[in-house]
Amino acid sequence: MNSKIVVGLAPSEKLAKRIAKRLRYEYMGMVINKFPDGELYIRFPKDVKGKRLIIIQSLVDPNEKIIELLFICNTAKELGVKSITLVAPYLSYMRADRRFHKGEVVSARILARVLNSCIDEIITIDPHLHRIKKLSEIFKIKSKKLTCTELMADYIKKTIKNSIVVGPDEESYQWANAVAKKIGTKAYVLKKQRKGSREVYVSTKGLELKNQNVVIVDDIVSTGHTMIETIKGVKKAKAKAISCICVHGLFVEDADKKILKSGANKIISCNTIPNKYSKIDVSSLIINEIKK
Ligand code: R5P
Repeated sequence: MNSKIVVGLAPSEKLAKRIAKRLRYEYMGMVINKFPDGELYIRFPKDVKGKRLIIIQSLVDPNEKIIELLFICNTAKELGVKSITLVAPYLSYMRADRRFHKGEVVSARILARVLNSCIDEIITIDPHLHRIKKLSEIFKIKSKKLTCTELMADYIKKTIKNSIVVGPDEESYQWANAVAKKIGTKAYVLKKQRKGSREVYVSTKGLELKNQNVVIVDDIVSTGHTMIETIKGVKKAKAKAISCICVHGLFVEDADKKILKSGANKIISCNTIPNKYSKIDVSSLIINEIKK
């Protein structure tokens, strides 16, 4: 009998079920309720002693999810599981990767330290690695970074003809450049200045995109301001059609509506975070890695 169990935690249950089905592993959902005061009640519905758990959970909207995950992983160990692999298609808290100002929390390192203590392996997709270059710099456990650039390039090739790729800032270079290479087109990487969470400036000086189909590629869309400022610049540069594509579509504060209103013709994201734009399925990427 297969000793592996796939555990799906919100918001990744659908993805987890698909992965379990395709791998022919048992699927298990957890019993999770909330007490009136907001504390969590969690129970394993099955005996997991001796099993290898593959927990699939995107850490979007992360604060409560991280507590949930820590409770589950620590309890799984107490109940005698053989190993825990966390598949976090979206790993949050990675952007604070350095103390930019005195006294700041470096969340990327702390989250990794906490996970190191209760899981055996982590698999994630396109984590925001910038000043921290590799997952192994912060994870002591086995870690694997997967990337959606191939899937994004395939999607663009199938749906948008003669496209040019634009990356909004130097941090988007790794995605914009890889996607452009795979499509066989050019990538323009712009310069961004961030003054606050909702205040960004993107410089598009000298950019000429007359009659081009532009695809703006980034890893994360959160408030959408990075995309919106890029769209403004790309419009000034006379682009014909504008598509916005990202790995992780957080779309907070109606970001999607604002992006469309600012002139994008379409938005596409991967299903690392499920939403109505998540047309690019990452399950095969995860399955291939688990099979290894
Ligand atoms: C940061 O460098 C990331 O790559 C994204 O550009 C950023 O997280 C997008 O945030 P927002 O949508 O809030 O501008």
